[in-house]
Amino acid sequence: MIDNFPFGQIVEPLLEWFQGNARALPWREEPTPYRVWVSEIMLQQTRVEAVKPYFERFTNALPDVQSLAGCEEERLLKLWEGLGYYNRVRNMQAAAKEVVEHYGGALPADYKELLKLKGIGHYTAGAIASIAYGIPVPAVDGNVLRIITRVCADNSDIMKQSVRTKVEQTLQGIMPGNYASAFNQALMELGATVCLPNGTPKCHNCPWQGFCEARNKGLWAELPVKSKAKPRKIEEKTVFVIRDGEKVVLRKRPQKGLLAGMYEFPNASGHLTEEEALLWAKGQNLSPIRIQKLEPAKHIFSHVEWHMAGYVIRVDELSEEKGDMLFVEAAESEERYPIPAAFSAYTKYMDIRLGNERF
Ligand code: ADE
Ligand code: SF4
Repeated sequence: MIDNFPFGQIVEPLLEWFQGNARALPWREEPTPYRVWVSEIMLQQTRVEAVKPYFERFTNALPDVQSLAGCEEERLLKLWEGLGYYNRVRNMQAAAKEVVEHYGGALPADYKELLKLKGIGHYTAGAIASIAYGIPVPAVDGNVLRIITRVCADNSDIMKQSVRTKVEQTLQGIMPGNYASAFNQALMELGATVCLPNGTPKCHNCPWQGFCEARNKGLWAELPVKSKAKPRKIEEKTVFVIRDGEKVVLRKRPQKGLLAGMYEFPNASGHLTEEEALLWAKGQNLSPIRIQKLEPAKHIFSHVEWHMAGYVIRVDELSEEKGDMLFVEAAESEERYPIPAAFSAYTKYMDIRLGNERF
């Protein structure tokens, strides 16, 4: 168990093993903060071998924070093509702009400051701080969770944030001050090349084989314990594009929770029939004149799926605003009221100029 295992003993054999077994990787040869950052973001979604060519292409085209910050979006997405999760590279660019504006163009040499940047979480902040700057902070990814829970045969669920935090604290306690970079990379490397996730770990090559409890007790196949991600909750909704001639009704979402503070079309839970939709509108003190059903749409978030029905409702003149409803000029909404992509199936119906006159 993690609480009573003598962790001090893992450090020296690990560092010694890493000296002789570190793979030559492009970002290891020249571990600038920028290159470490790019590599770690890419490695979150793809294996080391597959990342190499993407890393070369990306860093050749955009060799530093400045060039990333200034890159035109289409080109940026092109350079990321094949890696997927395009939000990651969009976040990187947002962070790069922030670094240029507020940190003089250099990624901050400070764990907490790194954490403030878009797309940089505990793991990435720890990796940049330790590998590029030698700052003694842990960087705990899935590899590290696996090998640490194995070496001490701890059957806590590694999907729990509390377990991750525990592992971080444990590693912080034994972190060798002058070898933070090697220590963190060695942990990841051992997980990636010896204490394998799928298939039999190569215990006979492992620097921890003498004291590893998973090996001693024959428990490696049972560890780590990893609960299945909960299936996403499905929410049915009916989305209303409510218009008079020029105006459309929007609503601001709550400051907390999903899509916090963004604007949305008014919506109700459940899939409403036309009649129910009209009743709903009247209940909002609107005067519907005409209603038209729109195509259904889906949006998938990490923990929820929205399954949406939609209606355009023409109403009699929208004059004074009622309750939380905003009456905005459709043209103006593009600049002032960002509507999240979850509603993108319906935004085209908000503006009569877009050739949707019949609505
Ligand atoms: N996986 C993610 N980051 C890594 C690194 N720096 N070294 C080895 N494997 C990794
Ligand atoms: Fe993993 Fe085996 Fe090493 Fe234990 S001895 S940490 S199970 S590779």
